[in-house]
Amino acid sequence: MAGSLFRTKSIDRLMADGGEGGESGLKRTLGPWALIGLGIGAIIGAGLFVRTAAAIADRAGPSVTLAFLVAGLGCAFAGLCYAEFASMIPIAGSAYTYSYATMGELIAWIIGWDLVLEYAVGAATVAIAWSEYLNKALEMIGLHVPYAWCHSPFQTLTGADGVVQHGLVNIPAVVILFLLSALLVRGTQESAFVNGLIVITKMAIVILVITIGWGFINPANHTPYIPAPTHYTDSEGITHAYGGIMGILGAAGVVFFAFIGFDAVSTAAQEAKNPKRDMPIGILGSLVICTILYVLFSHVLSGVATVDDFRHAGREASVAFAITKYMTGYAWLSNFVTIAILAGFSSVILVMLLGQSRVFYSMSRDGLVPKMFSDVHPVHRTPYKSNWLFFGFTSLFAAFIPGDIVGEMTSIGTLFAFILVCIGVWIMRKRRPDLKRGFTVPAMPVVATLGVVVCGAMIYGLGWTNWLRLGAWLAIGLVIYFGYSRSHSKIHSETA
Ligand code: ALA
Repeated sequence: MAGSLFRTKSIDRLMADGGEGGESGLKRTLGPWALIGLGIGAIIGAGLFVRTAAAIADRAGPSVTLAFLVAGLGCAFAGLCYAEFASMIPIAGSAYTYSYATMGELIAWIIGWDLVLEYAVGAATVAIAWSEYLNKALEMIGLHVPYAWCHSPFQTLTGADGVVQHGLVNIPAVVILFLLSALLVRGTQESAFVNGLIVITKMAIVILVITIGWGFINPANHTPYIPAPTHYTDSEGITHAYGGIMGILGAAGVVFFAFIGFDAVSTAAQEAKNPKRDMPIGILGSLVICTILYVLFSHVLSGVATVDDFRHAGREASVAFAITKYMTGYAWLSNFVTIAILAGFSSVILVMLLGQSRVFYSMSRDGLVPKMFSDVHPVHRTPYKSNWLFFGFTSLFAAFIPGDIVGEMTSIGTLFAFILVCIGVWIMRKRRPDLKRGFTVPAMPVVATLGVVVCGAMIYGLGWTNWLRLGAWLAIGLVIYFGYSRSHSKIHSETA
């Protein structure tokens, strides 16, 4: 019994099930640039343009730049481990697939289930951020979505006149999830093309804000660079450690969201033309480019506006806010940024939804979730039923839960998956040194250990409310595993 919980799926079988000559039905269309584009498309998004403001306001002030460095470091360690795995097992499914081969079915299930937090709940988080920026865009033409129709029921806003508005349901967030789910059903190749256009626009605005904003940095906003340790209670009544080392660690856990996505490249391994060579290029290339941009960008943003701005009026659509309020003469930039950010968020949601459907595709082929998650469209050859089911699931989160909460759930879920991937790569070195790897992590086991330590520190910094949420999500997953997946597992039916 205990042994069967840790039954593994052999690499040879993984490759036969899903690799070249396999019966997967997915098309191999993506080259190295498309993969880097896929990575950047998933990486730069709400984390940078929305969560940075929350990290400055609630946790770290200007030392948010150090938080980006800590988070980037944790991702670099995990990214190296992902690259080795993806170059060794170039099959759709990412961390789920890797752990099935290394740590057995139970851990694989836990990771697959946990990845729902990263991809599906992550997509919901970005859809909520999209809704915030949509309102900014509508303001340009004198329109706005009423507060109740673009906020969750748990959110309120007290106006300057003392009038309190209550949220009800976030409709724009659901609309964007619908449109992108429909695009994904059409096909990956089309999606990658749209993504490529968006990535270029997104990089252009980040570079523009850095170069123009640099001249508007007010040194007073950067003093002291690391605020003295204290506590801050946000508008939802949650108290956070602010300033000092704990502030930086907590902020790292929050802005970690901004790095999520490089691993989504690995979920497309089965659609890569030459995965052994191109997976590491896609994962590490996109990660390095984004880390450099993030540190520069957050230095500018925290230097242009004050912490108080980010705690109040400038919390939503923070970049457009900072430009409009402080960068005189650049109203056009604010408008351009708002439009480009809307497009940029769309590409993030697209890759997150793509990653989610691919993870469940693999789990479904292994029998751990129902077959409908791997049914491929007769014409478009995409897992369309899965796309629509996850549209429903992500919509519930996006419509009814505040962005801060889903954002932190996404971060903690992803950090947990990264820790398991770091451990898995090391186990694999011991167990299967013979397997050919297109890329090998240098200085093992130091890198994997550091990955576990840095990601663990960020989980610690996210605080007990998030630990509880992760625990509850994993507990639900275990009930499903023992109630359904274990007995439906293909490996189980073969070995029973
Ligand atoms: N990294 C992605 C974002 O920041 C998830 O939106």
